[in-house]
Amino acid sequence: MKIVKIAFFDTKPYDQEFFEKINKDYGFQIGFFPARLTLETAPLAAGYETVCVFVNDMVTAQIIDKLYETGVRHIALRSAGYNNVDLGGAYGKIHVTRVPAYSPYAVAEHAVALMLTLNRKTHRAFIRTRENNFSINGLMGFDMYNKTVGIVGTGRIGQITAEILKGFGMKILVYDIYPNKEFAQKFGVEYVTIDELFSKSDIISLHCPLTPQNIYMIDSSSIAKMRDGVMIINTGRGKLINTKDLINGLKSRKIGSAGLDVYEEEGDYFFEDFSAEAISDDVLARLTTFPNVLITSHQAFFTKEALTNIAQTTLENISLMQEDKYPNEICYRCSEDNCPRERSGKCF
Ligand code: NAI
Repeated sequence: MKIVKIAFFDTKPYDQEFFEKINKDYGFQIGFFPARLTLETAPLAAGYETVCVFVNDMVTAQIIDKLYETGVRHIALRSAGYNNVDLGGAYGKIHVTRVPAYSPYAVAEHAVALMLTLNRKTHRAFIRTRENNFSINGLMGFDMYNKTVGIVGTGRIGQITAEILKGFGMKILVYDIYPNKEFAQKFGVEYVTIDELFSKSDIISLHCPLTPQNIYMIDSSSIAKMRDGVMIINTGRGKLINTKDLINGLKSRKIGSAGLDVYEEEGDYFFEDFSAEAISDDVLARLTTFPNVLITSHQAFFTKEALTNIAQTTLENISLMQEDKYPNEICYRCSEDNCPRERSGKCF
């Protein structure tokens, strides 16, 4: 029987733990490499048919060609987002699959955690009380009840975020390029234009993928349309926000607070420990100076349930590839999993 070999890039201890556990049911041979996938590390994949990558492995057309030359035929993303892969470059050479849904609850709950922390300033209270400072000056928040939240992107994560916040008694405005009328009716939420959402929301939370059409959807011109003191939450992708414009908005107090689980240049820093080094990214360094900015390093997905589902679906995607089945393939043309063209064998 053929042995399935997987080159696993950007391995962290938690990845190895969960994948080894689930792999007991599959028996694949996995080479765990701590290095990210780059032009220099791509040769590590020689002899492997599949590579498994995460959000900060930049899978450019050049890297794809190099992988193809070494015999790689499947890139298995262990993430939902796929903006780091040049799908056009892979087309006709290497299948690309992803994990479309592993725990939308993990990400939605993290978005709400950022909102609650920024609003009630528990991140600052934690530091104060540890230094025996029991003053509450400057820690005032607002009732979320009856305030308006604008949710951009009503897919799996956006819908759950809306449901949770409805439980808080918030008014929910939603925007999506493909409005889901069934969802709107069932949960009593209202689709509005993006400009209306910007102008009427006290909190704006981003839950759409990053696409060529929506890069920097939050920039100086959209910020100008927002309410004074707006809170912006981004658990989507960093480049949805022009960070320099965000910083200007924070400096002018137009933006009241920002919760960022993703950052446009996160690839250089996130998931690694730089606590003993100077940060050379001045934009990131400026962001960390604001008391009303909370940055988490792309950890919204990071729950036990999500890691279990990620490992399960990724290994199942790889297993199905042996039968020439790609249920979670990302179609180059429509960028949707389960694309009908793929099912009829015409996608690739
Ligand atoms: P999904 O595919 O279920 O939903 C995305 C929704 O966004 C769809 O309804 C789509 O029509 C909509 N959309 C696409 N372009 C849009 C635009 N320009 N404006 C408004 N809406 C638009 O995806 P899901 O699972 O809800 O995830 C959303 C995003 O969250 C992912 O694409 C990924 O970038 C991010 N994510 C972040 C994680 C983290 O740990 N921070 C973990 C998982 C996902």
